[in-house]
Amino acid sequence: MAGFEGQKGRSMGEFSPDYLSYLDGFVRRDLDEVPGRVVTQLRLLEPIVEGMEVNQLEHSLQTATRAERAGATLDIVVAALVHDVGKTISNENHPAIAAEIARPWLSEEACWVISVHQDFQGIHYFGLMGIDPMLRRRHASHPWYELAERFVDDWDNHAFDPDYATLPLEHFVPMVDEVFSRTARRPPWLTPCSATSSEPASPASARGS
Ligand SMILES: [Fe+2]
Repeated sequence: MAGFEGQKGRSMGEFSPDYLSYLDGFVRRDLDEVPGRVVTQLRLLEPIVEGMEVNQLEHSLQTATRAERAGATLDIVVAALVHDVGKTISNENHPAIAAEIARPWLSEEACWVISVHQDFQGIHYFGLMGIDPMLRRRHASHPWYELAERFVDDWDNHAFDPDYATLPLEHFVPMVDEVFSRTARRPPWLTPCSATSSEPASPASARGS
């Protein structure tokens, strides 16, 4: 990519339209790196064992394998694959981290299931920890409640079996490529307004600011 000949600006307030357009090219090319970064994050789950029968990569692969074998859609299989990827940063808020990583590319229902999966897990062990095991009740009226139940109770819950015929990461890489190569959805407040709108337009490279 050719260099920028004009004034780059040393603060965002100094950015010219031409410079913003130049930067936007980098932002758009950066999106090409996302599928590979997701796979890298998944590999970072492998050293995380925490006393369990399988490491967190194996658990994620097994959750996705179970979802695929149950006939889940592509988005739900990928959700199963990445639902714990937030643990590469922190176990405490890992559902929110994973959901936000996936949100621009994965379906809304898949992101919702990722974001609430910890609440649904509670029925299986929270009672032993003195935590309300029925946290899932908070979502009882949600239209995707039954999907989250199936996701957690049938797939995530059982994905700690070292003897299960889990499919390898390589099997899922094409799915990651397909999903995370989609056109990224921006939040509406970062979507440029139409030419007829009276609202001011957002900067083209707001994504990278
Ligand atoms: Fe999990």
